[in-house]
Amino acid sequence: MGDSTATSPWLPTTFIVAAITAYFILGKKWRAIESKVRDLETSLKSSLDKCAAERQGRIRAQQELRKALLQPNTDNLEPTSYPMIPIGTVQSCFSTRNGTPRQPLLVPLARACLMFDPTRVPPASLEGLEEYSHIWIIYVFHLNTDLDKLWLEPSRSKIKAKVRVPRLKGGKKGVYATRTPHRPSPIGLTVAKIEAVQGHMILLSGVDLVDGTPVLDVKPYLPYCDSIQESMVPEWVKEDSLLAVASVIFSDGFHSLLAYCWDSVERTSLYSSPSEMKKLIEQVLSWDIRSSSQRHRPHKSLPTANISSCGEDCEGEESFNPVSEKCDPTLIVYHLILEDLDISYMIDYNGNVLVDSVAPVSRVPKSNQNRSNYTAWKHKLG
Ligand SMILES: *[C@@H]1O[C@H](CO)[C@@H](O)[C@H](O)[C@H]1NC(C)=O
Ligand SMILES: *[C@@H]1O[C@H](CO)[C@@H](O)[C@H](O)[C@H]1NC(C)=O
Ligand SMILES: *[C@@H]1O[C@H](CO)[C@@H](O)[C@H](O)[C@H]1NC(C)=O
Repeated sequence: MGDSTATSPWLPTTFIVAAITAYFILGKKWRAIESKVRDLETSLKSSLDKCAAERQGRIRAQQELRKALLQPNTDNLEPTSYPMIPIGTVQSCFSTRNGTPRQPLLVPLARACLMFDPTRVPPASLEGLEEYSHIWIIYVFHLNTDLDKLWLEPSRSKIKAKVRVPRLKGGKKGVYATRTPHRPSPIGLTVAKIEAVQGHMILLSGVDLVDGTPVLDVKPYLPYCDSIQESMVPEWVKEDSLLAVASVIFSDGFHSLLAYCWDSVERTSLYSSPSEMKKLIEQVLSWDIRSSSQRHRPHKSLPTANISSCGEDCEGEESFNPVSEKCDPTLIVYHLILEDLDISYMIDYNGNVLVDSVAPVSRVPKSNQNRSNYTAWKHKLG
């Protein structure tokens, strides 16, 4: 055996043993290094591949976004987007949706200041507008509680095709046969009277817009083409008087109570005086502004605890009693919020409105600091 391993005569056995040992030791180390290098190479390659894939993915996503933005997408139902953003916001006398007229020009004294975003709309954009009497306003129904549904696919958003129409006392019509706020594109169209233009603001009247409404666009009203003499409407639309009330009367103490509250609201009011505010209240309440569910709810309980008054501050109004004996104690008290005033009223079975009380609303948002007021427009109104 020993002889067969020592076949090379010029290599001494010890050297061979040492070489074989060295081969095994070094070779093991070398193979370990080699395998580490291979691992590193593999991981580097996979990192590079990943980077490339990410970049490819990013490029693909960017291309797809650009494609989606620039051309109608016909192979799926994703909505196509367009570059649109509100150009301004409405500061309206109507603080809540409840009480906001359902159509424009019903309440001639309903004022609003349309305040344009000065970063998007330089004042020069409004030059010449004051020469028109009326303006179209395209806006967003931003207070719709179902707005979030509209981001879903049409099959999941469950937009109703028919809506209840107040004038039909709950009868239904197709969305597009009405001006309901609840539509697949929550965009509103209205018209208002231009009272004055100043800087980046327009003072409007006859508005049916709630405070805070985002405005997408405005266009002048052109009677020669916007008013169509031979136009027709369905019968149910003609019956405006259905929603008019029989009468509006004020409680005995109302005027002095309003005068008393005036101090706290005047700074942000678009009205000149308590008397003018009272005229606005009368005009607003001369239409039945209650929702159809409120109107059909049986008038049985009177939430006396919720009748507003000026509270502790009203000690001087000793003669004022929020629920006087002469009014039916089965009536429900409704609230109308105009600017920062909470007006409570009742309405009887015959449609007679009693405007009962008024109080300043408790919370006044900080955004109100910048509200335009009557003083700012006085010189323009003549
Ligand atoms: C109207 O607003 C201006 C500016 O904010 C303010 O200085 C002024 O006192 C306000 N007018 C009234 C009557 O409070
Ligand atoms: C009445 O007032 C109470 C407490 O002030 C309030 O919790 C309740 O929601 C009010 N009810 C109505 C119908 O406004
Ligand atoms: C009020 O208006 C001024 C100037 O137009 C603006 O700098 C400020 O941010 C506004 N404040 C609020 C609370 O909107």
